[in-house]
Amino acid sequence: MNRRGFLRSTALAAGALILGRTQSAVAASPKRIVKASKFPVGSHRKFVAVNGAPAFLFRTKSGVFAYSAICTHQGCTVDYLAAGKKLVCPCHRGSFDPFKSGKVVSGEPPRPLDKIAVSIQKDWIVQS
Ligand code: FES
Repeated sequence: MNRRGFLRSTALAAGALILGRTQSAVAASPKRIVKASKFPVGSHRKFVAVNGAPAFLFRTKSGVFAYSAICTHQGCTVDYLAAGKKLVCPCHRGSFDPFKSGKVVSGEPPRPLDKIAVSIQKDWIVQS
């Protein structure tokens, strides 16, 4: 290998090393959703998941949990109706129970909403 080739391969290796560290740091840090102290038991809120999709976060006495807001029928975005305590799809009125693992309550959806792993770390609720 000549000097030019050596310098090029060294620069590429250094770039890969730096990029690898950056990607590792990003992958290792969980996404902060909301401060736990600002999200008491009984709360719910919409948020954007790590994959960029809409999602819903809930907090009960038993802890925090979250679901993708993408309907498992044809992919519309569900909304939370607090009065009925259900996640309801506007497209074909499918509904899900967020307090029973996102199970289908009514309508066309073939399966429960996808769960999103969340936890409380220090004073933050995070997507892990
Ligand atoms: S897309 Fe949600 S019920 Fe059809």
